[in-house]
Amino acid sequence: MNAVESTLEVASFTPYPITHHPIHIELHEESMTVTWDHQHKSEYHYLWLRDNCHCPECISTKTREQVFEICDVPYTIKPSNAYITDDHRIVVDWDYADHTSKYHPGWLLSHCYSEEVVQSKQWKPILWDKERITTELPRAKSSTLIQSDEVLLTWLRDLRDYGIGIVSDVGTELGSLKAVTDRIAFMRESNYGTLFDVTTTAKANTSANTNIRLPLHTDLSARELQPGLQFLHCLVNDATGGESIYVDGFKIAEYMREHHPEEFRDLSTIPMTFNNKDPYCDYNYRSTVIATDSNGEVTEVRHANFIRVPIDVPAHQTMALYKAYQCFIRLTREPAFQLFFRLTAGEMVVFDNRRVLHARNAFDLKTGMRQLQGCYIDRDEFLSRIRILERSTTLSGS
Ligand code: OGA
Ligand code: ZN
Ligand code: ZN
Repeated sequence: MNAVESTLEVASFTPYPITHHPIHIELHEESMTVTWDHQHKSEYHYLWLRDNCHCPECISTKTREQVFEICDVPYTIKPSNAYITDDHRIVVDWDYADHTSKYHPGWLLSHCYSEEVVQSKQWKPILWDKERITTELPRAKSSTLIQSDEVLLTWLRDLRDYGIGIVSDVGTELGSLKAVTDRIAFMRESNYGTLFDVTTTAKANTSANTNIRLPLHTDLSARELQPGLQFLHCLVNDATGGESIYVDGFKIAEYMREHHPEEFRDLSTIPMTFNNKDPYCDYNYRSTVIATDSNGEVTEVRHANFIRVPIDVPAHQTMALYKAYQCFIRLTREPAFQLFFRLTAGEMVVFDNRRVLHARNAFDLKTGMRQLQGCYIDRDEFLSRIRILERSTTLSGS
């Protein structure tokens, strides 16, 4: 079978290289155990196998989306016959509706859902403090990101894992960041525009466009979906002050979980409301500062004290929320957690705005100019780009 046929055999756009062969199958009441030639055993439930039939009747060959719906077979469906073919496929004849399914070994093994495999595939952020990020901060040159898919993929994976990275030699023209962002995805628009300027203006509708200190925050925290990646491209930075500060919000959350468990619990369960308004817009969103998923993993940090509205939780939670909130902000102010640097003209910092907090010191307009240009790209677009690059580059791992 040639490579194209074996890809079409799997109703997906992702290639599934065959790394191991099934050598034995054992049928049980509700599931089948497959033993692979590296001795790994995978258990696949019959309902799961029927659900994942790749035949053209069950999955559209065009969109590669499922047409079949599992409710159309009995809950107790079983194989009437099952065997391994000479070319290492597993074939199952079903005891219902005269249907046969054939499983590609590369696809089947990569979808093994044993606990150890699922856990080993779980993405884990690389948490950082000052010491770690000072030596490990992901850096790339704009021209190499533009020219090489492999450099781009490596840098994007680092950006995903650390939540921050620097691009140098972006240029000092307005809009020159686009050469880099175009390599990733389209931008996310907001009421500040698609590309926004961070410069001092007389009619500023946000503290960002003044010369005052901006405390640590995430951008657009009054939106239900905070923007994912934030790009801040430095065009001019010759005023005194204006240094940048970045803190890994996930690191702070995990530090709290370990050292201040009650405060962690309260900050991840008791909400507060964020409100952002000017004469033309009024955004409002209520959420916890730390968001976790169904496994308790931290997925997001939301923090902008300057647009938080008065706390309005039940009286028995008020002091607990203040205690947790004080604890969180005090930790973010610890220099040991802070990446502190000065952006230079032509440099661009990129960070996961739903994870990494950013701040800047006040700057003195009498001493010079400071001008940045920024934009956002949502997490989904950026992660999709990584997966697409992974389909075609030779770099392994994820
Ligand atoms: C912002 C901001 C940082 C800076 O525009 O939201 O945080 O360095 N700017 O000016
Ligand atoms: Zn089918
Ligand atoms: Zn900001």
